[in-house]
Amino acid sequence: MQKPDFSAPKAYGPLRSFGRVRGRALSDRQTQLFDTLFPTLAIPAEPDSPLDPRDWMADAQAIEFEIGFGGAEHLIGQAIRHPHHLFLGAEPFQEGVAKALVGIEDHGLNNVRLLASDARPVLQALVPHCLDRLTILFPDPWHKARHNKRRLIQPSFLEAAHRALKPGGQLRFATDWADYAAWTIEKVTQHGGFEWLAETAHDWRTPPDDHITTRYETKKLGDCAPIFLLFTARPQGM
Ligand SMILES: C[S@@+](CC[C@H](N)C(=O)[O-])C[C@H]1O[C@@H](n2cnc3c(N)ncnc32)[C@H](O)[C@@H]1O
Repeated sequence: MQKPDFSAPKAYGPLRSFGRVRGRALSDRQTQLFDTLFPTLAIPAEPDSPLDPRDWMADAQAIEFEIGFGGAEHLIGQAIRHPHHLFLGAEPFQEGVAKALVGIEDHGLNNVRLLASDARPVLQALVPHCLDRLTILFPDPWHKARHNKRRLIQPSFLEAAHRALKPGGQLRFATDWADYAAWTIEKVTQHGGFEWLAETAHDWRTPPDDHITTRYETKKLGDCAPIFLLFTARPQGM
């Protein structure tokens, strides 16, 4: 397994959906974890054949994928809570991956697999209907109109997400940018393959019962209170 190259981040397709990939220098422990632990649980960044997560944990009771896990608070917290679920996490920001590695080692987790780059090629490569849940919490807002095209939520992304999710599988999305929430509802509705579970405003203003607050969420950088959108994947063709 090749070590991730954070000096030359690759973006899937023509548009990069993430910002910086390097921050502070890694601690000695983090550097060592990249050399030792990371290769044992890395998801191939550019898969050239279909990826079946069951190859990593055949008896997983559920398979979840968190895209853009940032500081890994949610990813690691969920993995601790659900030792029989397999958690895939993607994050191109080196420090975020380092935090996930520390969390995995500290808690002795063996139900996490990490991708240290753009999630989109891997989402595309997953075998159909393998995911129980796809989670995207506070994605980069790209809120200037000319940057909207960099948003993760795009028709092609939703198509790949729908293909990877089981029928009835959940797409979880949160943002504190009102315009990104509206954008997501619009794009998901246009896709047609998902059902939005909200019935009243209370449903999107209230985090899911098992939500774990993320660092980015606590920064309150957006223009509204957090909005939580929960969708389920309809069976193909419905
Ligand atoms: C605003 S941060 C939020 C991080 C975290 N979810 C939280 O709530 O604290 C968005 C994260 O998504 C990551 N990201 C953006 N595009 C991505 C992509 N295509 N694949 C994987 N991660 C991505 C960025 O690197 C960034 O760390």
